[in-house]
Amino acid sequence: MGMNEATTSQIYDLWSRIYDRTFGALVDHRYHRALEQMQLKSGDRVLDIGVGTGLMLRRYRQDVTVVGIDLSAGMLAKAARKCREDHLSHCQLVRGDAMMPPFPDRTFDHVMVSHALTVVSDPARLLHWAGRLVKPGGRIVLSNHFQSTYRVIASLEKLLNPLFMKIGWRSDLALEDVLDGVDLEVDYSFRLQLLDVWQIVVLRRATPPSIKNQANIEPTVTGTPLAMGSH
Ligand SMILES: C[S@@+](CC[C@H](N)C(=O)[O-])C[C@H]1O[C@@H](n2cnc3c(N)ncnc32)[C@H](O)[C@@H]1O
Repeated sequence: MGMNEATTSQIYDLWSRIYDRTFGALVDHRYHRALEQMQLKSGDRVLDIGVGTGLMLRRYRQDVTVVGIDLSAGMLAKAARKCREDHLSHCQLVRGDAMMPPFPDRTFDHVMVSHALTVVSDPARLLHWAGRLVKPGGRIVLSNHFQSTYRVIASLEKLLNPLFMKIGWRSDLALEDVLDGVDLEVDYSFRLQLLDVWQIVVLRRATPPSIKNQANIEPTVTGTPLAMGSH
């Protein structure tokens, strides 16, 4: 039994009433660090998946376009209010399922997935779509809790998972499992503190094996751009 979009939407409609004062306040200082990793430049288009109450929106520079997608009408209503009150005319909000995104491939320069990967029923599918929607060379930035690599802690996270699922997220998702079979690779990742349970992970579209092999076989060929755009 995993996450389920219909229930999740209802749970987050409830969360929306207290989100900014509770979980949002707890992770607030992470938004800036996650955003930094995108290295945004003027004119970029960003997709913010599971934008929630829009706590991240105020932090995007005003010369980029941000599209925030979310399932929950309650969370989006809070985000819309922030957009109105803070005149965030560069931000647009869309109600929808990020696993069936209503955008053509390669629409966005970068994709943000902040505390949303462990909330969806099929995280690999979400990442698959993120990879399709991002332009060649774009970054997919995850800010999330992943299952610990320490066995004792991982067992505890598995044990507590049914409880966490009732309040809207799972605690047993391992990063390597979700990346298995997805055409993305970890560029780098870090924690804000040594004993942090959350991580910031930067993903890029995986380099096709043929190109990797070619690079190994013909090391003297330089200056040839990697065909990042090929699907
Ligand atoms: C924990 S909140 C994170 C909100 C925000 N990104 C943040 O970091 O504060 C997770 C959000 O993901 C949304 N969500 C869950 N499943 C989704 C889906 N399939 N498609 C789009 N949004 C989804 C929820 O409605 C909720 O607003």
